[in-house]
Parts: sequence; C-alpha cells; structure tokens
Amino acid sequence: MDLIIVDNYEELSQRAADIIASCVEADPACTLGLATGTSPIGLYAKLVEKCQAGEISFKDVTTFNLDEYRGLNPEHNQSYRYFMNHHLFDKVDINKEATHVPDGADPDAEHACAIYEQLIERNGGIDLQLLGLGHNGHIGFNEPQDDFPAKTHLVQLTQRTIEANSRLFDSIDDVPREAYTMGIGTIMAARSILLVATGSSKAQIVHDVMYGLVTPQVPASILKFHPNVTIIVDKEAGALCQQ
Ligand code: F6R
Repeated sequence: MDLIIVDNYEELSQRAADIIASCVEADPACTLGLATGTSPIGLYAKLVEKCQAGEISFKDVTTFNLDEYRGLNPEHNQSYRYFMNHHLFDKVDINKEATHVPDGADPDAEHACAIYEQLIERNGGIDLQLLGLGHNGHIGFNEPQDDFPAKTHLVQLTQRTIEANSRLFDSIDDVPREAYTMGIGTIMAARSILLVATGSSKAQIVHDVMYGLVTPQVPASILKFHPNVTIIVDKEAGALCQQ
C-alpha cells in the first residue's frame, strides 16, 4: 500500500482528485467506485472545478457507489444518492443513467443486493474505487465482524456508526439502522483503490490499517492484500505512521 501524508485537507483533496482525473483521462469510459461521507467532499469539489474548466469530462464515465441507507428514498436529503447528486453528479457532464447507487428504497434486500452486484459484474468491474475509512476500520458499511463479506449485502449499522452519522440528521432516532453495502470482495475486485482519511480522530485506525494484522475486526486491513492501493491522509490522520 502506498501511503501519502499531506499537510492538510486542501492538499489531500487536490492529490486525490488528480488521481481520479488521471484515471478518467487515461480511459474516458472508465468505471469509478465512489464513496460518500465528509472525507471526499473536497475532492469532489476539485473534480467539479476540473470538469467545469473543461479539463476532464465524465460524459462516458460509469459510477457505482459503495452503499446506501436502507429505507431512504433517493430524494431524501440524507440519502447517499442525494449526496452524490449534490456534490458531483448534478455539477458535471455525467450521464445520470450511468451513475449507480444501491436502491435504498427497495425493501427486498436480497433483490436490491443481487441486482447491484450483477450490474457491477456486467459492467466489467470497477477501475478505481474511492474509499473513506470509519473510526472502527469500516469500509463501505462493512463493520468489524467475524468474516469478510464477499458481496453486496444488507448490514445492521453499529451503535458507533449510527452515532457518528447522526451529526447529519435532525436526531439520532432518524438515522436508519440498516444499509446496503458492497461487500469486501466487491471492493477488493476493483483494479485500483484510493482511500482518503483526515483528522486526528482517524490516526489510530490509519496506523492499525497500515501496520496491524489483517483481520475482519479491522475491515480495511484487508487492503494489504490488494496489489494497487493508495492511501492519502492529512498529517493529523497520519500522525502515527511513517512515510
Ligand atoms: C461512505 C462510506 C463510509 C465512509 C466512512 C468515513 O459511502 O462508505 O465507509 O467512507 O464512514 O466517513 P467520513 O469520511 O465521513 O469520516
């Protein structure tokens, strides 16, 4: 895994956006795996700038998001579809039909997950998967557990994740308790992976992912087995690591 420690969030966003832009430049019809959360907001803004300046085009790009809350409609302002529209899709020249987020409005979990997995497969897989990192090491909504789930599946969110995500809802009771997420196998099948993490509250988990054992109790630790992973952190999140 390639670890890049940068000075601040601005630089992290620029470096990450440059990597994604290079992927799109190299193959204008590439497939990107995307993430929500606070960490990628800055890099999405940089990609919007690049696109609006005519430096890159998303016209032929296909995207698959990692996850979605179960029970939220795409129009709900806390749904991950809404987030993606707001931060990226509505502001660039992407064909919305080629953007995919698990269908949180489909109550049939087996159906919603199987369809999503098939779509990714039929599309030929993901070229570059962007990830954030949970404080407990989760990627997508793959929480610490006894095994590494292979495919897109239904998850019960942990209390810690519900609390972390409640900052974006009116009250903690409004945070959905379940989500659909790509599996660890789905993520590991991507041809390259870019993980971004910021802030001192992520320092310990970034250290554990980099130097700890590979264990499903730290889901992101499995990235050590992937041949093409870049991790970009700001100096606070990288405080316990050497470069
Ligand atoms: C979001 C996702 C999550 C977040 C993680 C970090 O689609 O899959 O795994 O990446 O919870 O979130 P932030 O960036 O808000 O710290």
